[in-house]
Amino acid sequence: MSIENRVVGANLHQDEDLIERSIRPKRFEDYVGQTNVTDNLKVYIQASKMRGEPLDHVLFYGPPGLGKTTLAGIIAEEMGVDLRISSGPAITRAGDLAAILTNLNEGDVLFIDEIHRLNRAVEEVLYSAMEDFALDIVTGKGPGASSIRFELPHFTLVGATTRAGSLSAPLRDRFGIISKFDLYTPEELSEILKRSARILDVETDEESRVMLAERSRGTPRVANRLLKRVRDFAQVLGSGRIDPQTVDSALNALGIDELGLEELDRRILTLIIEQFQGGPVGIDTIAASIGEERVTIEDAYEPFLLQSGMLNRTLKGRMASINAYRHLGIEPPEREEPELEDNADDGEQLTL
Ligand SMILES: Nc1ncnc2c1ncn2[C@@H]1O[C@H](COP(=O)(O)OP(=O)(O)O)[C@@H](O)[C@H]1O
Ligand SMILES: [Mg+2]
Repeated sequence: MSIENRVVGANLHQDEDLIERSIRPKRFEDYVGQTNVTDNLKVYIQASKMRGEPLDHVLFYGPPGLGKTTLAGIIAEEMGVDLRISSGPAITRAGDLAAILTNLNEGDVLFIDEIHRLNRAVEEVLYSAMEDFALDIVTGKGPGASSIRFELPHFTLVGATTRAGSLSAPLRDRFGIISKFDLYTPEELSEILKRSARILDVETDEESRVMLAERSRGTPRVANRLLKRVRDFAQVLGSGRIDPQTVDSALNALGIDELGLEELDRRILTLIIEQFQGGPVGIDTIAASIGEERVTIEDAYEPFLLQSGMLNRTLKGRMASINAYRHLGIEPPEREEPELEDNADDGEQLTL
């Protein structure tokens, strides 16, 4: 199961997929928050439209579910071009990429999700495609080999990754626009929920939306998913209206606590506290003890644990905060506060 699908459980069913698509904003007007990214992007889009040129290549990075794919769609919509979607793991051979590229039309947006997972051979083809809008195809082998150059349409590559640090430098350098996505505030999520509830045609009130927003770990995908689950509870157990009481009982039934932590979050914190005296403990040790992939913990769970102040990253490893002890109802030890790494930029801030 991909990381994106496992946050707050359950795979998408087919009809849920349809709902997904109807909820996903198609224009900037409906895209809430993330203004650090969108404000600049709107300027770049307007400028390239005025020049009649395609937009420069764009790299989006940040945790899953924050709206990277959605924004790629909005870019295509605003530029009035088609969007083609692929992903790093899906493009296994250079020929796969060549096929995608030669099928693009002038100005199209090509979205490559999980772009850090492209293999080396494919990446090399992408370099000249991004830079020169050309494809160099080598025919033959050994001394008889020769290379033919194909012209490509001028396209815009939008790459998305949960880990900018895993991108090779030559690939990163070929993006003209690099934007970092941050977790959303409860106010922003609440606004997103208001729109989603309207589309889903389910009645909600302000208080219920705020409750849901506060327990959605800063992530629109989680907020929308919880809304759908709570709607189910409201339909079966209540009047069909979503009220605070329904939200509370539904989220409790889903194992999501007042802070929005789910089962695995609590297991991580409990492990650090009970097995490692609160830490510091290395991420690989945590992953092995929990039985999860390191990337899953780093990409899908850690950002919110850091932001909510449950977890600290120190120079020696991860530590449970005093707040984590309190949240889990465990007596905190007396200790000096550790020297922290800068949690805010996640160690992944890119400089241009
Ligand atoms: N800024 C936003 N405003 C409204 N809804 C959003 C926003 N960002 C994400 N969403 C919702 O969350 C879902 C997940 O977003 P997505 O673009 O797939 O995230 P990512 O590609 O970063 O993993 C989308 O289907 C969309 O409905
Ligand atoms: Mg995505």
